[in-house]
Amino acid sequence: SHPTVTLNNGITIPQVGFGTFKIPADDTQRAVESAIGSGYRHIDTAAGYYNEAGVGAAVRASSVAREDLFVTTKLRNGDQGYESTLTAFENSRVALGLDYVDLYLIHWPYPSEGLYVETWRAFEKLYADGVVRAIGVSNFLPEHLTTLLESADVVPAVNQIEVHPTFQQRSLASDSRAAGITVEAYSPLGRGEDLESDVVVAIAEAHGVTAAQTVLRWHVQNGHIIIPKSTDPERIASNLDLFGFELSAQEMADITGLETGQRLGSDPATAAFTQYR
Ligand code: A2P
Repeated sequence: SHPTVTLNNGITIPQVGFGTFKIPADDTQRAVESAIGSGYRHIDTAAGYYNEAGVGAAVRASSVAREDLFVTTKLRNGDQGYESTLTAFENSRVALGLDYVDLYLIHWPYPSEGLYVETWRAFEKLYADGVVRAIGVSNFLPEHLTTLLESADVVPAVNQIEVHPTFQQRSLASDSRAAGITVEAYSPLGRGEDLESDVVVAIAEAHGVTAAQTVLRWHVQNGHIIIPKSTDPERIASNLDLFGFELSAQEMADITGLETGQRLGSDPATAAFTQYR
């Protein structure tokens, strides 16, 4: 079986998960069934992806036991606030058709609205009620983590952020880890853009693997939790086939050297209400 990481409350999460951002609702059940069939045991979705129903249908149709699968979903920006969070969680749970969710994340801090601390109190209630096995955040910058930790009873288990060779956020990742918060890397392939790098292509050729496997192996050797996304069954399978080769220290350093500081996704400090709402 594949490696897992232990979160700050003792539960384990498979290190390689299946991402579903931008997978259309109608394609999602098929893609997630393909992922589970290839051996993925960790699926990442969000209310704002509008594909939770397909994720849940695939999980429920699977012959893999529910307790052997790890399902993450996220709260949309427009649902922040205490009561609205409780309602939104119930809507997600019903859309998924699951009794519980393994990990529930605040999707964006959305600081202009000023509701993420109040929202976190609702997350703590859901956690205490046992309908989520762990709670965390996504796209939180250091100032948002600091504000949250000042009043939180439960330290977030996870901060899910954009991390890939050309945008690694090493300082934010180490700040998160120092607070006991595990980092999950989204867009681990840089939305496919990091696969064009000559450095990556040369290392892939040297190992007889694909550029995607090379970048994902770099994440694995760095200890990152990753959620690569694909709708292609062969890519879905190969993106989990990362444990038969090893990058040298020099190859790791060469990929780390691809940092540009250029974010591909939204800036969490300003991410607009209209996104993922
Ligand atoms: P597709 O869904 O057509 O396979 P990220 O996970 O960083 O967001 O990257 C997702 C993007 O990378 C998607 O455009 C996806 O396209 C592409 N992708 C995923 N896996 C591979 C792969 N093994 N080889 C090439 N492109 C890939």
